[in-house]
Amino acid sequence: MRIDILSAVPGLLEGPFSDSIVKRAKEKGLVEIVVHNIRDWSTDKHKKIDDEPFGGSAGMVLTIQPIADAIASLKSERAYAEVIFLTPDGEQLKQGAVNHLSMQGNLILLCGHYKGIDQRIREHLVTREFSIGDYVLSGGELAAAVLTDAIVRLIPGVIGDEQSALTDSFQDNLLAPPVYTRPAEYNGWKVPEILRSGDHKAINEWLEEQAVERTQALRPDLFEKDS
Ligand code: ADE
Repeated sequence: MRIDILSAVPGLLEGPFSDSIVKRAKEKGLVEIVVHNIRDWSTDKHKKIDDEPFGGSAGMVLTIQPIADAIASLKSERAYAEVIFLTPDGEQLKQGAVNHLSMQGNLILLCGHYKGIDQRIREHLVTREFSIGDYVLSGGELAAAVLTDAIVRLIPGVIGDEQSALTDSFQDNLLAPPVYTRPAEYNGWKVPEILRSGDHKAINEWLEEQAVERTQALRPDLFEKDS
């Protein structure tokens, strides 16, 4: 899978993909992540990528030309399953959509900046729009990093222990059960006895119960949703 990220401030994306699981996935050749500067496609003599909004409201708007040319140039080289725009007014990102995207082909992620992007890009070039929460970031870059991380860890072979991604919170609409490690007792704080019993059937039942109880207590809304 290849993920191309189009940004006006690509420097913001230098860190998130150069460590840990995403770094290893790149090294294993399981994903290729390419961050592009939208400015590189600007045909303006000053490499301008934004302009004042029609109608006179405050803030600058990213113009169509550099973004349309960037997308066209990428599409001329390979096929893309989706062109995704990260925006606070997009569909709220959920694990179900992440699962789906991790099984698709290549993706283009478009990051907005300033006041936004020309609406015609959204209408004619973007195929899906996601928000990572009801708050406004300075741009879509951190949201693109969140989406990329969530997708990459699901690509087969990225996480060593295959079970591990399947037992994440939100898979099956349940929060993950609690986890413990050595020592079995610290300052009088004990690990639940059952986890040290060696009875795998009982342990699995307990973990399932814990997941249901935690979901009921912390996120009862998850029981009402199917993605
Ligand atoms: N860009 C700015 N805020 C955002 C958010 N909450 N989600 C996705 N993209 C954004």
